[in-house]
Amino acid sequence: MNITIKKAEALKPRPKDSELGFGNIFTDHMFNMDYDPENGWHNPRIEPYHAINMDPSTMVLHYGQAIFEGLKAFRTEKDGIQLFRPKDNFSRMNLSARTMCIPEFDENLALNGLKELVKIEKDWVPQELGTSLYIRPTIVAMDPFLGVRASYTYRFFIILSPVGAYYAEGFNPVKIWVSKNHVRAVRGGVGFVKTAGNYAASLYAGEEANKKGYTQVLWLDGVEQKYVEEVGSMNIFFVIDNKLVTPELNGSILSGITRDSVICLAKKQNLEVTERRISIDEVFEVHASGKLQEVFGSGTAAAISPVGLIKYGDQTIQIGEKKVGPVAEKFFKDLTDIQYGKVEAPEGWIQKVID
Ligand code: COI
Repeated sequence: MNITIKKAEALKPRPKDSELGFGNIFTDHMFNMDYDPENGWHNPRIEPYHAINMDPSTMVLHYGQAIFEGLKAFRTEKDGIQLFRPKDNFSRMNLSARTMCIPEFDENLALNGLKELVKIEKDWVPQELGTSLYIRPTIVAMDPFLGVRASYTYRFFIILSPVGAYYAEGFNPVKIWVSKNHVRAVRGGVGFVKTAGNYAASLYAGEEANKKGYTQVLWLDGVEQKYVEEVGSMNIFFVIDNKLVTPELNGSILSGITRDSVICLAKKQNLEVTERRISIDEVFEVHASGKLQEVFGSGTAAAISPVGLIKYGDQTIQIGEKKVGPVAEKFFKDLTDIQYGKVEAPEGWIQKVID
């Protein structure tokens, strides 16, 4: 399928790398594609960035039938531009599509559209370590209809945003709060895919955490409220007795691509890594016995984010000495070295946009 291109007439001013935060600046162009039952996915196109016109009855506004992804493009030292694991993002997006009754799309077409778009927006890819071009592919239900059913029509779009660190703390340890009263997702639900409602469901507890001075919520499982799941914007890893432990994928945890990257890199370095159930009580026990060396999160937006403090009920533990631990630091370096093209990536992780 041919991707048509219409260029913007006026370009926006671009921010300095040092001014970048997360998710508040958008580039000059976007990718769009539509779905209807007669034509399937059709009319892939790159156009000037613009608002999407919606009837107030548009289904996504009422029932949240929406999925999205987050991935990044990086500027290499040789001034090339490359995407980190985009095929994995589009394949996960199709898993989200199947789960949310959205028609699957052609992953090669989406990847070609993305590469074309990033090529056009090449000057928006920042340079400094810690900055990148964040990519947000999204699909939303477009039928103007108020009955509860899957929509017949959809819009697929990709927008781009130059970003710095996701957390205000940057690469410094964040404080997380374990919610006792709220759960993010349950087995048999949709916690394992990237659908808008999972994030809406996390807001109430997130606000509570912020009010208490914590950056994020650490979610426990929705059934026994005992086992650690994820942080919502990132998966979580524990360094216990020089080994890495992360909650196993159980149907309610998002299968993070950065999580998978950390597991692959750990295995290559012969660092023992176990995916298993880990209870919050065990986390506090290993801390009490002096075996909990580090805790860190992993995610596209957050990259590798050290955790310095965990609060659960009236107990609080401090991990490390209020600074980044050596394991998190090494994963941050290993991952960013690959992303910025300083070292060779494992097979299939990098797609070059500009060499
Ligand atoms: C990401 O890490 O890309 C995410 O999607 C998490 C969050 C910003 C929603």
